Amino acid sequence: MSSTVVIGTQWGDEGKGKIVDYFAKDAEFVVRFQGGNNAGHTIVVDEEVYKLHIVPSGVIQGKKGVIGNGCVVDPLVLTDEISMLEDRGVSLNLFISDRAHVIMPYHKLLDGAEERVRGSGKIGTTKRGIGPCYSDKIARRGIRIGDLLSEKQLRNRLQRILPSKKELFTVFQIDESLNEDEIVKEYLAIGKKLKSYVTDTSLMLHQAFNDQKRVLFEGAQGTMLDVDFGTYPFTTSSHVIAGGVCSGAGVGPNKIGAIIGIVKAYTTRVGEGPLPTELSDDVGHHLQEKGHEFGTTTSRPRRCGWLDLMVVKHACMLSGVTHLAITKLDVLNGLDKVKICIGYKLRGKKLDGFPAAIEDVGEVEPVYKEFKGWNDFKRPSSLSDLPMQAQSYLSFIETFLGISLKVVSTGPKRDETFVIES
Ligand code: IMP
Repeated sequence: MSSTVVIGTQWGDEGKGKIVDYFAKDAEFVVRFQGGNNAGHTIVVDEEVYKLHIVPSGVIQGKKGVIGNGCVVDPLVLTDEISMLEDRGVSLNLFISDRAHVIMPYHKLLDGAEERVRGSGKIGTTKRGIGPCYSDKIARRGIRIGDLLSEKQLRNRLQRILPSKKELFTVFQIDESLNEDEIVKEYLAIGKKLKSYVTDTSLMLHQAFNDQKRVLFEGAQGTMLDVDFGTYPFTTSSHVIAGGVCSGAGVGPNKIGAIIGIVKAYTTRVGEGPLPTELSDDVGHHLQEKGHEFGTTTSRPRRCGWLDLMVVKHACMLSGVTHLAITKLDVLNGLDKVKICIGYKLRGKKLDGFPAAIEDVGEVEPVYKEFKGWNDFKRPSSLSDLPMQAQSYLSFIETFLGISLKVVSTGPKRDETFVIES
């Protein structure tokens, strides 16, 4: 099978960018299938740091980058990112689905306004317009990338959409005008800039599979932010799990091969919502500082906690994860003891799966297994280079999940990664 899917098994920020970069070596196409510029992927090549939000990470290696129909695209951010990459000498090979939805200026304003109205019940969104854009897509009042290439199409869409947006602006007291001619002028100009990248990407991928090309699907966010299976409503608005590849890139399930689940060696989350293993003590502080746990997209500090295998087990089941990649193991170095959550109790009863209601998630009592900590290690190139305690930690995760460990990452750089050959 010629495709690999990389997905996050936690609340995002698992270090997917680096692992995608690693697997991209063998791929010809690297495809985003969901989300938008709420994502933030950091890739370090030699001393160069690249922070990407919407362009697939693989383009840095000259791979064909695809933004699939399941993504929402802020064309202003996309054109900035394209210019940044071109200025840094990356020769871009980019394809954007004509069916991907466009994040319009009113989506960003409404994202902010809805959060304000939610008050203390706010989701803590990235305020990039992601939720309002996906809402419009499902409500069948969206604008798609292909619409930016035709004045007639764009005007037709806007004439149906703008009257209701104007009413919403009044309700939310947003003091901004929505002028059809101005929007048409600005967005047709952007469409002109993007035109050479826009195509029917699912047709292109179909051809790529027929030609036996290798395709890598790059997930954004993490399973606990999936709109169906995450900690709803404190989730994002897209399908983050591996199944999202089919609808978000327009490929059949029979085209999916290996599914790599990225597991950060501990847990983090940005935004609001319950986090059962959260630590607000010195250990939480250690993880935040040593792990540089501040958002790539919003710079917000990430909440930190022990690794939660109830979460990871849920994610592996939903996506059919075939291999694990553990990231940021080095961040645990220097702790006296390390814990892993191996079960939940809710009102005295042991749970088999991850609860659907956030009220229950907020009440679960994690059951922990404790491990001895370990000291710093230097650039391991195999499992046996790791301290025994770190080896036990990894082997417990593998056995608990019943999925083999393929990659271990012990630092941000490309060469701080080793692969376990099976
Ligand atoms: P939205 O995707 O901007 O609507 O935000 C919804 C929730 O998902 C918020 O809690 C965000 O902080 C979170 N979120 C969105 N994208 C990411 C990501 O790439 N990493 C981690 N959290 C994210």
